[in-house]
Amino acid sequence: MPMIDRQGRKITYLRVSVTDRCDLRCVYCMAEDTRFLPKAEVLTIEELDRLCRVFVRKGIRKIRLTGGEPLVRRNVMALIAGMGDLVADGSLDELTLTTNGTHLARHAEALAAAGMRRINVSLDTLDPVRFQGLTRWGRLDQVMNGIMAAKAAGLAVKINAVALKGVNEDEFDRLVDWCGRQVFDLCLIETMPLGEIHADRIDQYLPLSEVRARLERNWTLKATDYRTGGPARYVEVAETGRRLGFITPMSHNFCESCNRVRITCSGTLFPCLGQEEAIDLKQPLRSSESDLPLELAIDRAVDRKPEGHDFVIERDGVPTVHRPMSVTGG
Ligand code: 5AD
Ligand code: SF4
Repeated sequence: MPMIDRQGRKITYLRVSVTDRCDLRCVYCMAEDTRFLPKAEVLTIEELDRLCRVFVRKGIRKIRLTGGEPLVRRNVMALIAGMGDLVADGSLDELTLTTNGTHLARHAEALAAAGMRRINVSLDTLDPVRFQGLTRWGRLDQVMNGIMAAKAAGLAVKINAVALKGVNEDEFDRLVDWCGRQVFDLCLIETMPLGEIHADRIDQYLPLSEVRARLERNWTLKATDYRTGGPARYVEVAETGRRLGFITPMSHNFCESCNRVRITCSGTLFPCLGQEEAIDLKQPLRSSESDLPLELAIDRAVDRKPEGHDFVIERDGVPTVHRPMSVTGG
């Protein structure tokens, strides 16, 4: 029985945040003193596995694990191996991961062995000093080692870079060039007003229309109809043959084709990244050995999936959505 919402959108894509913790503190994502959830609130690996399987039975074809940083979650590889079995037996088309890359060197082989074919790595700058500043204490060489291990393990890598005014805006040509040479796709993302970060977002906001116009001085960007079912719009960089995506939540609407829902590591289902609407799945999950209460709660949630988001960045710095990306998953 497929999940279809009131707008007739078929829900086939599940994003699962496996932890709200992260080993970095990217300035646009988290405050330095971010408090994380107490352990009892967080679903166990077994509970996450059960939850994912129920969603797969209900028609989910693609699962992306996110965080926080998914690879800092202890025993996350058990969940990944379990989901990999669903890929192997054909009940899932794709299993993938969004990671900051810090622990990738250690896990790349196992990810590929679990049937993962592609991963997204978040990387906003190629400059080690800048990287450290942006992430507050990250080490670029560690992430680079991770990315190269993923490549060596045969995983297709897509680099996600958030475009930040006055921070990395002089680096997009270099990123396009580097990704071209490494055979990585690249996706540029506008900052979204998620979570309190003790900084004024309007100072960071850089419209991608501007970035694209600047890139077009040096690169031939050819239109493509390539879509991943996500919000990115892709062009092909003629000079490198690689895809370049733009995610423009602030200046472009893509909600009409949204095929996804998100669950947090504490078992809350968010039908939309950009709305406060939330449905608790932890209670139905923990209260019964039967999956029925859970299935009913999921149906209720899908039925309440909003038509779209309404992000606004305002000078007063009050976010549209109070939970940061690290809670709902990128
Ligand atoms: N706006 C846009 N992108 C964000 N990310 C984290 N927080 C934000 C935000 N407020 C990005 C990360 C990563 C992806 C999961 O989401 O950099 O690439
Ligand atoms: Fe961690 Fe990603 Fe947030 Fe950076 S953006 S602090 S890597 S969750």
